[in-house]
Amino acid sequence: MNIRISASILAADFCNLRAELAKVKGADLVHFDVMDGQFVPNISFGLPVIEAVSRCTELPLDVHLMIKHPENYLEQFAAVRPEIITVHYEAAVHLQRTLARIRELGCKAGVSLNPHTPLDGLRYVLDDLDLILVMTVNPGFGGQRFIPAMLEKIRDCRELIGARPIELQVDGGVSVENIRELAEAGANNFVAGSAIFQAEDPAAYIEALRRAVR
Ligand code: DX5
Ligand code: ZN
Repeated sequence: MNIRISASILAADFCNLRAELAKVKGADLVHFDVMDGQFVPNISFGLPVIEAVSRCTELPLDVHLMIKHPENYLEQFAAVRPEIITVHYEAAVHLQRTLARIRELGCKAGVSLNPHTPLDGLRYVLDDLDLILVMTVNPGFGGQRFIPAMLEKIRDCRELIGARPIELQVDGGVSVENIRELAEAGANNFVAGSAIFQAEDPAAYIEALRRAVR
């Protein structure tokens, strides 16, 4: 499966989003961390920001909903035409229905797992999924340390996916230092926020991430 880099704008300068987006043109996706202060202990941004950003980037949008009751907001997020909408396993009570609805709305359906959440429940919704996001930090904040125990979970997840066309995304603490072992464990889609935006040259950093897994 293709390697894809998703630049998380949580780490960007919100005062200069247009300029920040121009720096990450070489990424494959723009990642949006929507936080509600309920599912995670932090509030980030919502639809108006995603909608504005969608007008100043050519890149496909990757929306990560860290919110309770994601099923109530799918139509609104789908209206911005993202490539992917990812909901949290822990927040989606009727997960199969929610994933099917995301596809009905014309988006790829993703499900994200907190570090301690077992993969088991996904076994029965694999046909409804386009992407599994294995969180490599506890969601809610950028700039945290990658949790090494997640390497085993990534390997298990890759095995669970088998030959199915499902992307395996990782999010949290991804950098040039660990991207190779993450890829070797089976991840193909890498979200990075602070590593990219705090780099002196974000465009060069994205290239360095690609080189590290080549
Ligand atoms: C964490 C978010 C991440 C975050 C990653 O809750 O889901 O997408 O932006 O940030 P870094 O790359 O700084 O760990
Ligand atoms: Zn995220």
